[in-house]
Amino acid sequence: MKKEQDIHGLEMSSELMLDLARQAAELTVERIKGLSKEGVWEGEFRQVLEEQWSREVPERGKSAQEVLKLVANKILPLALRLDHPRCFGFVPSSPTWPGVLADFITAGHHVNQCTWLTSSGPSQVELIVIDWFRRWIGYPKSAGGLFTSGGSAASVDALVAAREAAGHPERGAVYISDQGHSSLARSAMVIGIRPEGIRKVPTDRYFRLDLQALKDMVARDRTAGLNPIAICANAGSTSTGAIDPLGEIANYCQDEGIWFHVDAAYGGFAVIAEEGKKLLHKIEHADSIGLDAHKWFFQPYEAGCLMVKDIKTLEGPFGVRPNFLQDTVWGDKHPNFSDRGLQLSRSFRALKVWMSVQTFGMAAFRQAISNAMKFTAQAEQYIDKSPTLELLTPSSLGIVCFRVNSKDSPLSEEELTELNSKVLTHIFWDGSAFLTSTTLREKFSLRLCIINHNTTWNNVRKTLQAIEKFGRESFKN
Ligand SMILES: Cc1ncc(COP(=O)(O)O)c(C=O)c1O
Repeated sequence: MKKEQDIHGLEMSSELMLDLARQAAELTVERIKGLSKEGVWEGEFRQVLEEQWSREVPERGKSAQEVLKLVANKILPLALRLDHPRCFGFVPSSPTWPGVLADFITAGHHVNQCTWLTSSGPSQVELIVIDWFRRWIGYPKSAGGLFTSGGSAASVDALVAAREAAGHPERGAVYISDQGHSSLARSAMVIGIRPEGIRKVPTDRYFRLDLQALKDMVARDRTAGLNPIAICANAGSTSTGAIDPLGEIANYCQDEGIWFHVDAAYGGFAVIAEEGKKLLHKIEHADSIGLDAHKWFFQPYEAGCLMVKDIKTLEGPFGVRPNFLQDTVWGDKHPNFSDRGLQLSRSFRALKVWMSVQTFGMAAFRQAISNAMKFTAQAEQYIDKSPTLELLTPSSLGIVCFRVNSKDSPLSEEELTELNSKVLTHIFWDGSAFLTSTTLREKFSLRLCIINHNTTWNNVRKTLQAIEKFGRESFKN
């Protein structure tokens, strides 16, 4: 236990700093190594926490070790363990340790990754990592990008570029498939698109954007005086993992002179694996692509990224240079990442990816992504053969959708919704696995997103068996 003399004002002795860092590292490693024995979810109602946790602002500090323990034992466990090997809900993610350390060491070095002047080393690393992404996607040399907080922020930046490329017209319109992530509609709203210009395009039976419907909609809208700014496609939709017909949409966008944005926040990193590259064929024809390294590239939050085919399309609109930053302008060869997007002060997010890849090598990442796709396909086969389960969409990248339903079941849609919600609640409170649901054309669907690198087939199989068991029990009641 450290004494008061280890703390002076807002500073600590080296000994105390190291002790705390060691304690934080030990608590974290212990948590990670014990994950599979823990439940996947833990949470509490607000009223309970209001009663348990003090709202007082302490005038004098307490023991730093005690504060750390409180955080590790009481606060942080009340959360979904997205990195748990049996977490299949939403879009989970399991960060690699070098990525975690990158966040720690970056914070400790207090990097502001906004301009070349403030951070030339970090800027060079961000350039290198962005160039890796460029090569993985298959973008030309003119391409570039930046790290963002996440996929949502990447979409905002992308739509600003799209709007400016279109000449910032009045009555702009953005086209999003009815399976597009909610962040796309939000981003359209942020860049000033009015509600009537946020256009939802129908999808086909596999939940892929219907190209003919898109063409008809754009033609009608142009006649009605709307000005298309961007068409947003999915390269891995959140509900089903659907990949829109990227090549065909790209050709259409080119013919029509409309910006083509691909939301690959969850699915994009599949390009590094051979089978993923095939599935995401022609993604490189997009004008911009959103990617989330905090999803399928195993990094801690926040590690989003926007890539654009021509970096000038970002640097033009965002290159606002006030007098008080005049010293930071070092010319084209020394880009200021703050000239590529929304943020001025930025953390050094690229370091997580850089350190992780340097440490493990690409082969390990490729293997982890291939495994995930293999397990998802295996889950599809398992579901297809199960007498208790009904496959609702084929596996795509890392997602498969299904529900509890027997072939000769007399249950109505309403009853099936009730039954499946019940099964989901069972799984939820049982805590041994976590999955979430979606609704696919009025059908309540269970959904597994199998992308964590620490997930084994056994984890997936056991989860499916638990769903079958709860399903059978719910059928009887
Ligand atoms: C396809 C897709 N796009 C965008 C997002 C939003 O990304 P973020 O939460 O990083 O802002 C998500 C999140 O799950 C997603 O799955």
